[in-house]
Amino acid sequence: MTGRLYQFYRAVTASLTEHDRQYVEKYLPAEAQKLFWNMSTADRYHALHVAYTAIEIAKSEKCDSDLLRRSALLHDVGRTDGSMNVWEKSIAVIIAGCFPEFARKLAQKNNGWLSGILHIYFFHPQIGAEMLEKIGMNKEAEIVSHHHDHVVPESNIELRILQQADSEN
Ligand SMILES: [Fe+2]
Ligand SMILES: [Fe+2]
Repeated sequence: MTGRLYQFYRAVTASLTEHDRQYVEKYLPAEAQKLFWNMSTADRYHALHVAYTAIEIAKSEKCDSDLLRRSALLHDVGRTDGSMNVWEKSIAVIIAGCFPEFARKLAQKNNGWLSGILHIYFFHPQIGAEMLEKIGMNKEAEIVSHHHDHVVPESNIELRILQQADSEN
């Protein structure tokens, strides 16, 4: 609960530094940068800090750190700016936590305000993966599409690190 409250506080007070901007420009190709900047400020901030944490974790693991970094920066691009604000995300978290079956059914309809935000909440990994496939980032798309899966193969180190970094941010 404390972690969720801290995440909420960080989301509403998020702002990017010049270093953050340069990091995105250095590590993402131009088409992917567009997707990154299409997220809300809160999600850009979140994605950057997931990437920083992931790269720290990767120092003690054998993995493709460039693929991991790009996947971390892009893992939530399925949540474009305006599709779900910080308050709506909090509502989705509460409803999905309290009424998981009801929330999933409503999310599938994608029809109306609550259904729409639940759709983004549950399906942003697949939405983001489709966006990445369209610009030829198939390896990143594969990782992004599974970033909220509960069961992950041991062998997919980049995905496991991304999930750990995501949960810490
Ligand atoms: Fe996500
Ligand atoms: Fe995330």
